[in-house]
Amino acid sequence: MKDESEGKVPLVRTDIPGPTGRSIVELDDRYLATVTKSAPLVVDRALGEKVWDVDGNLFLDFSSGVAVLNIGHCHPSVVKAVQEQAAKVMHFAGTDYYYDVQSLLVERLAKIAPGRGEKKVFLSNSGTESIEAAMKLARWSTGRKQFIAFFGAFHGRTMGALSLNCSKRVHRARYFPTVAGVTHIPYANCYRCPYHQEYPSCGLWCAKILDEVYMDALLPPDEVAALFLEPIQGEGGYIVPPKEFLPEISRICRSYGILTVDDEVQAGMGRTGRMWAAEHFGLDPDITCMAKSLGSGMPIAATVFRKELDWGVPGAHSNTFGGNCVACASSLATLDVIDREKVVEQAERKGVIMQKRLEEIKDRFENVGDVRGLGMMRALEFVEDRKTKVPAIKMRNDVVSALLRKGVIALGCGKSSIRLIPPLTIGEKNLDTGMRLLEESIGAVVRDRK
Ligand SMILES: Cc1ncc(COP(=O)(O)O)c(C=O)c1O
Repeated sequence: MKDESEGKVPLVRTDIPGPTGRSIVELDDRYLATVTKSAPLVVDRALGEKVWDVDGNLFLDFSSGVAVLNIGHCHPSVVKAVQEQAAKVMHFAGTDYYYDVQSLLVERLAKIAPGRGEKKVFLSNSGTESIEAAMKLARWSTGRKQFIAFFGAFHGRTMGALSLNCSKRVHRARYFPTVAGVTHIPYANCYRCPYHQEYPSCGLWCAKILDEVYMDALLPPDEVAALFLEPIQGEGGYIVPPKEFLPEISRICRSYGILTVDDEVQAGMGRTGRMWAAEHFGLDPDITCMAKSLGSGMPIAATVFRKELDWGVPGAHSNTFGGNCVACASSLATLDVIDREKVVEQAERKGVIMQKRLEEIKDRFENVGDVRGLGMMRALEFVEDRKTKVPAIKMRNDVVSALLRKGVIALGCGKSSIRLIPPLTIGEKNLDTGMRLLEESIGAVVRDRK
């Protein structure tokens, strides 16, 4: 697709939605089930970090289609691979038969996934399915029934994954009973330490408590199949744990034969300046879940696991669309782009620029309580004041809206944070523009409050 945006980027000339968009919003509201809907933005087309709506407004995408477009919208190599594969064969049930793009993809994922040893791969269509597969595999291979997950976690919406969630009440309300056997423990959130301690004088109590309290008094470790972790909590607020936390949690798990499941659905595929966020912490997960940016917009997910854990019994787990031909072609092309354009290195470098800008913003505005992240997975948290740290929820929502009116698409996360996740391939000028508009939007919202 040709990029005709020679002039100003971004450029918003109408209300959002404008006259054309309004009719689509009305239709959607009438017939689409109530889902999450963050803004009345009606997309027409997109390329790289740019998105045009149906009223001709041009936006910068700092949400990457909810973390799906790490290499940008409609990368020409991916579009070509998808078109060629679609013209050849679209679907042939890779769980029952064979075709090259699936075999090539699982080989590649088995080789690049985090963790030591030989691996195998189960393919599916969404993050939540990759988690369901991990839950089933962990029970199947260990013969144990219990799971551990974290407060602040988000792993998906199907019943198993939902049972691991603990980031927002609305995800779970009215769905009980969820899948039995999940114990939640607090995550290491140093900005809001659940134990009101200071790092490092805390001695990493948030990790040690798993062994010293939970395993001792509540949870027989030899009944626990797996612990699920996000190396950086996503939906929970872009929480980066101190560097020793996850290695210590993993060590405790390993000492009891508990599998660790690394959920890289949001943080993976180069987003944090490493191919997998687990690499920042030297983790050696038994199972890794990936989705979102794995297919650059085609629905595909993978559960990659140590070879010995495999089901080994045909029919114990399977699906219809997992390993869909077009999705596999898209994924292979995505991995090629990541290698060829050194996308992981780009994320590391531009992430430093983002953090520097965020720190300047924090210095300027008292209501910005914390800025954090790794690589290009960054967030800022709004508070009523820095001492009480009361979440400034309305302010966060107002900033997201003001930012959209200026032409930057961004999403909230946690209670009062904004996540900033532009495509890793974003041009530095556009990255700088987005950060400037963020600063201006905060300034405008702060002024309006006075
Ligand atoms: C860390 C994490 N795991 C799992 C999921 C679920 O993925 P999906 O929405 O593709 O089912 C998400 C979605 O946001 C996620 O952020």
